[in-house]
Amino acid sequence: MIKIEHLKKEYPNVTPLRDVSVEIHDGDVISVIGPSGTGKSTLLRCINRLEKPTSGKIWVDDVEITDPKCDINKVRQKMGMVFQSFNLFGHRTVIENIMMAPMDLLKKPKQEAYDTGMRLLRTVGLAEKALNYPDALSGGQKQRIAIARTLAMDPDIILFDEPTSALDPTMVGEVQAVIRDLSKTGKTLMIVTHEMAFARAICNRVFYMDEGGIYEDGAPEQVFDHPLKESTRRFVRRLKVLELNIESRDYDFLGMAGEIEQYCNRNQIPPKLANRIQLAFEETARLLVPALENPRVQAVCAYSEQAERAEWTFRYAAPRMDLTRSDDALALAVLTGVTEEFQYAWHEGDALPNALHMQVRHN
Ligand SMILES: Nc1ncnc2c1ncn2[C@@H]1O[C@H](COP(=O)(O)OP(=O)(O)O)[C@@H](O)[C@H]1O
Ligand SMILES: [Mg+2]
Repeated sequence: MIKIEHLKKEYPNVTPLRDVSVEIHDGDVISVIGPSGTGKSTLLRCINRLEKPTSGKIWVDDVEITDPKCDINKVRQKMGMVFQSFNLFGHRTVIENIMMAPMDLLKKPKQEAYDTGMRLLRTVGLAEKALNYPDALSGGQKQRIAIARTLAMDPDIILFDEPTSALDPTMVGEVQAVIRDLSKTGKTLMIVTHEMAFARAICNRVFYMDEGGIYEDGAPEQVFDHPLKESTRRFVRRLKVLELNIESRDYDFLGMAGEIEQYCNRNQIPPKLANRIQLAFEETARLLVPALENPRVQAVCAYSEQAERAEWTFRYAAPRMDLTRSDDALALAVLTGVTEEFQYAWHEGDALPNALHMQVRHN
């Protein structure tokens, strides 16, 4: 078990981990996801003490590894790490790379280290490469060797930091397959990855990292399908968001239309969909703004790259005003034409309590 209490890691210019407390159980397979720069690598590096935490405590089983008196090498024997870059020794053969640590650190006899090494090479499908040098291997093969080398120490815990992101896309699958097999062996795994489908398929738990820590922690069904927090939802659906604020009746309509156009171009939104996004904004603004005494409207467009779908949400300050019942039949006809769903909701107590939600028609 790994137990983390109030872990903080600060660098001179940034504090990626502000206050992380979490327990990781034996056999947990955890996918660690989140935007870049949110401290995913830092978390892993603190857990195996490649980084020294600024404050807070970490226990691995019953050993407090943040205690200066702790023998970190002993802890590291139980904990392997696989990096994006494979870090194999170029002047050693594949089998030598795998035999080294068990012989040097665990004092295993050569024959035993060799036998174990060959068995592991077979499990990653590369027994025939035993006598090759790493340079003769593809990226995917090197990473599978790096995993075999980590396994040679028989660790209880393996930390993977984006193990497939340096690979040619054709080789991602073979490395994922090896990790998938490993995920069924009862070892504790933490895998930082940007491959959402893979993350979801292998883990029993997801950490979504953001805002200085583990922002959401749950089962994959929860984090991917029913995230509790908006930022998680945006990330897992790969939502690209545009926010426009209208604060007076003579707002900069053309400027906003220009922003929408740029947003659509930047995110390579297909032209037909882009056109409907634009029309939905224009018609809603045309209907809404003149009806408001002191316009305060927040318009948010969210586009899901993955699903190629877009939605608009307009929130506005006013007594209850359901635009779906407007008597401007023409504007409503346009809106119905460009949307699949067009709904109104009232959120009592919100600063902007009226909400119009529309799913833009995508085909
Ligand atoms: N050794 C370091 N010195 C200074 N800043 C660092 C160092 N390592 C990471 N950072 C910063 O800490 C933040 C988190 O980094 P990292 O853990 O690598 O994020 P992630 O793996 O989620 O992309 C980033 O802003 C990064 O620039
Ligand atoms: Mg990283």
